[in-house]
Amino acid sequence: MLKKRAHWGSRLAFVLAAAGSAIGLGNIWKFPYITGVNGGGAFVLLYLVCIFAVGVPILISEMYIGQKAQTNNVDAFKKLAPSNKWGGIAGWLGLLSAFMILSFYSVVGGWILDFEFQSLTGMFSEQTGFKDGSALTDLLGAPYRQLLWHALFMSIVTFIVCRGVKGGLEKFNKILMPTLFVLLLALFVRVLFLDGFTDAVAFLFAPDFSKLTADSMLEAVGHSFFTLSLGMGAIMVYGSYLDEKENLFKISIAVAALDTAIALLAGLVIFSIVFTFNLDPQSGPGLIFGTLPKLFTQIPGGNFLAVVFFFIVTFAAITSAVSILEVVVAFWSERYELSREKTSIATGLIMFFVGILHVFSTNEWGDIFSILGKTNFFDLFDLLTSAYLLPLGGVMISLYFGWVLGPEAIKNALGDKPAIAQVSLLWTCRLIAPLLVLFILLQKIIEVLS
Ligand code: TRP
Repeated sequence: MLKKRAHWGSRLAFVLAAAGSAIGLGNIWKFPYITGVNGGGAFVLLYLVCIFAVGVPILISEMYIGQKAQTNNVDAFKKLAPSNKWGGIAGWLGLLSAFMILSFYSVVGGWILDFEFQSLTGMFSEQTGFKDGSALTDLLGAPYRQLLWHALFMSIVTFIVCRGVKGGLEKFNKILMPTLFVLLLALFVRVLFLDGFTDAVAFLFAPDFSKLTADSMLEAVGHSFFTLSLGMGAIMVYGSYLDEKENLFKISIAVAALDTAIALLAGLVIFSIVFTFNLDPQSGPGLIFGTLPKLFTQIPGGNFLAVVFFFIVTFAAITSAVSILEVVVAFWSERYELSREKTSIATGLIMFFVGILHVFSTNEWGDIFSILGKTNFFDLFDLLTSAYLLPLGGVMISLYFGWVLGPEAIKNALGDKPAIAQVSLLWTCRLIAPLLVLFILLQKIIEVLS
């Protein structure tokens, strides 16, 4: 018995949903801070190379596999090539990554809600934590407050996924994403008039290659997967709700370009502020939680800017988190014929519980989690997924597309594109993307071992 599969209402709905998945904390929180820590321009350049040489081909691969198979991220591989045994491994790895990522993503999402709440209630200007930049430290030391916001964030995400592809994912992306674009553009126009704007441009776009290390390369590659939501089947599942006729090439370029544009815009906004007020670009994960709020208390209208800024981040985080939960829900509900509502709530709850580890790892249980040189559980999960699991999953997907499905699939995916484009995509998926990723992974592994 085949139930009719839900589909996006239009091509635009799919682009917005895929962009909604891609554009998230990765763009507004992680990209600026890792760029800061890794010295700016050269890192940005490497990241752009990774996006277009590795990210876009894998984006097309995932969309195609989903679109053709019209099923979840584990069964899709078998459905398209029944004799192939290892494709499904990428699917299972994807499910594992989904649990790991969403558990910490939701905790950070909770921090954002907390900050939004504080700026909304006007506590901002009086709150000393914002004045001296210690707001995040305060929050990290308050596990129950984090727990509350983490629960709220996870509930919102679960609620949207419960409502299904059309009534949930499509509807919310259609409202939240355009709002996000408009608000971010408005902020951008505002910072154009700050003295630090030109410094920000120089910092992001003038490369100094001496600043690149094995770690920063790993970070650039890993982040290109994270920011485009690649390597765990999120885009594949979204692709499976797409009509078979749609041309994937244009869509994937649009999604990658939107994602990159938002990351660069967010970077320009944040670093313009940082340089205008002589703050430290290398302040790490606390950049938008410590550095920026401090400043919002010092400039006229800062409170309002803070409200707008944290709204943007909230929207970005919700639409991304939804796509992570959807991967697990699609698999579970389809394979075991369970209702979407039940599966969403059960999965959401499990992820909430895993998230508790993160909440307490920054305070009461801090000492237990010093693994692999990471001081908390949260950094550890981030490292394991972004730097290893996602690239590994992505390489498997790329090899599957290039070798198992091969030229015929590439031709279908690209439609009327000239032969040269088809050959380039074929060999990028077969060799170039996997080699680039493995080379960088190996370099890091050798460094760790020696
Ligand atoms: N891309 C999102 C961000 O930049 C995060 C995300 C959503 C994600 N879905 C994913 C990351 C799937 C990896 C895999 O914040």
